Amino acid sequence: MNMTLRQLTLFKAVAQHLSFTRAAAELFLTQPAVSIQIKQLEGHVGISLFEQIGKRIFLTDAGHQLYEACEDIFARIDSLEQSLNELQGTIKGQLRLSVVTTAAYFAPYLFQSFAKHYPEVHLNLSVTNRNNILERLANNKDDLVIMGQVPEHLQVTAHQFLPNPLVVLASPQHHLVNQDRISLIQLSQENILVREVGSGTRLAVERCFAANNVELKTNIELGSNEAIKQAVVAGLGISVLSQHSATLELNAGMLKLLDVEHFPLRRHWYVAHLTEKKLSLVSRTFLEFLLKEANRVM
Ligand code: PGA
Repeated sequence: MNMTLRQLTLFKAVAQHLSFTRAAAELFLTQPAVSIQIKQLEGHVGISLFEQIGKRIFLTDAGHQLYEACEDIFARIDSLEQSLNELQGTIKGQLRLSVVTTAAYFAPYLFQSFAKHYPEVHLNLSVTNRNNILERLANNKDDLVIMGQVPEHLQVTAHQFLPNPLVVLASPQHHLVNQDRISLIQLSQENILVREVGSGTRLAVERCFAANNVELKTNIELGSNEAIKQAVVAGLGISVLSQHSATLELNAGMLKLLDVEHFPLRRHWYVAHLTEKKLSLVSRTFLEFLLKEANRVM
């Protein structure tokens, strides 16, 4: 088969987006240029890779197989690049980092500080909730992940690198704002806004209530820290979030901390990878940087 790496790159982008237009935009090409290359690729493999149904395109069985092969091929090229860089002793190349949504509030600051020392490292950052991170970790999709709690069902090596206090937030007008030592039972009478199932923050809140035998009644569930903060500011209820996610609103006085027993929940941020994973020089350097410098940077 005479397919080229260029064609495989275009195919991978179209397969990921299931759209020629979006793949073309991502790769700064025109849509016809992408279509021509995919046609040629289909000519090489001798079978259709996509099928169109209505306005949407889907991968055919052959397309799925080629996509899997692409993942192997590009992972192999990445690891070749890393080994060559290691032979040259240079710290450059890709760092694939996945962080839980809440860590996205501080990860860019850490990476910015790291990049000052290692400008040739390119960050490929995915931000998603804890459940998705676990899935990515199990499938070895990233070099490193940042999360609030180390999974027990996976063979993972994890290092604590920053404190992650979970705090109770309310709007400045909330009737509990100036009260001292609010009990968990009292808190449970309030309208508590929680993150979606699969969020690490939600899991920590549920565990805290369960450990103290207090029922957590929630009737409003929101899919992001941002949505929760806006809802709390609007007076819809109170919530428990990582203090890192509310620094700006707390400083601006838009949100207040409630003084609740058992809070702040003292958690930590961990940087983790599968224990069997062989870390690249770039990943090892970033990991060491986090352990030595994260507290100072933050
Ligand atoms: P989350 O994770 O962003 O999925 O809530 C945060 C955490 O695990 O502390």
